[in-house]
Amino acid sequence: MAKCKVKIGIIGGTGLDDPDILENRKETSVTTPFGNPSDVLIEGKIDGVDCVLLARHGRKHTIKPSSVNYRANIWALKEVGCTHVLASTACGSLREEIKPGDFVLLGSFIDRTTSRVQTFYDGAPNSPPGVCHIPMEPAYCPFMPKLVSESAQALKLKIHPGVTCVVIEGPRYSSLAESKMYRFLGGDVINMTNIPEVVLAKEAGLCYAAIGLITDYDCWRDTGNKVCVDEVMHTFKSNVQNLIALLKHVIPVIANEEWDKVIESLKESVKSSVMLPS
Ligand code: ADE
Repeated sequence: MAKCKVKIGIIGGTGLDDPDILENRKETSVTTPFGNPSDVLIEGKIDGVDCVLLARHGRKHTIKPSSVNYRANIWALKEVGCTHVLASTACGSLREEIKPGDFVLLGSFIDRTTSRVQTFYDGAPNSPPGVCHIPMEPAYCPFMPKLVSESAQALKLKIHPGVTCVVIEGPRYSSLAESKMYRFLGGDVINMTNIPEVVLAKEAGLCYAAIGLITDYDCWRDTGNKVCVDEVMHTFKSNVQNLIALLKHVIPVIANEEWDKVIESLKESVKSSVMLPS
């Protein structure tokens, strides 16, 4: 059987909105039943692989985490034919051994968001019909993380696979008591954007992996800095070239794998999760 053609959506988080990573760029505007995505999509290639870059917070970083149109973003990537999504995200660390500058691969999440729509199947006239009870284990693609880890190792970058991410509503950072509670609950890292992005990617039948770049230790430690915007932006900017190198290394590796069965089973999972009106 011929290999399915891979097209990879790259969702650029805080600090990764650099279209220069793509060759032969063209801009594509997409409108969706859920409104407009955060920005135009930038289509192009990395090492011959079709990719689409989307800046989660807009190219000028003007959209706050709660106001990102996650549904439009994921729908638009699906609409232009993406099979995979590699999402980058700045994260705080809740563990001593996960250090600023390290990378993580999200393996599960604890949802602490409060005001975000988490489904395409919302009963509105232009939405897909039915109610979708999508399973969240596995929430993330179980296959891409191994490839990303191997690429990170080849580039001598420190990466922690299978971490649990606490996703908070923001835009404020956590209080000391919250930060300590999240550690106690089993959170390894913390951010503000992975929910509902991962949920919607699963509803859309996309292979979705999230690569976190650790920017800070949040505020739970007795010593050291407490998280602030300057620290997050500074650590991200100092390490963004590593993230770009990692994406450029892993994307041709992903494109070289056989994904038909994985994509088929994601589609099946969505189909069997939708309850249609009887
Ligand atoms: N993004 C980066 N660092 C963070 C933190 N400490 N809390 C929430 N989101 C973050």
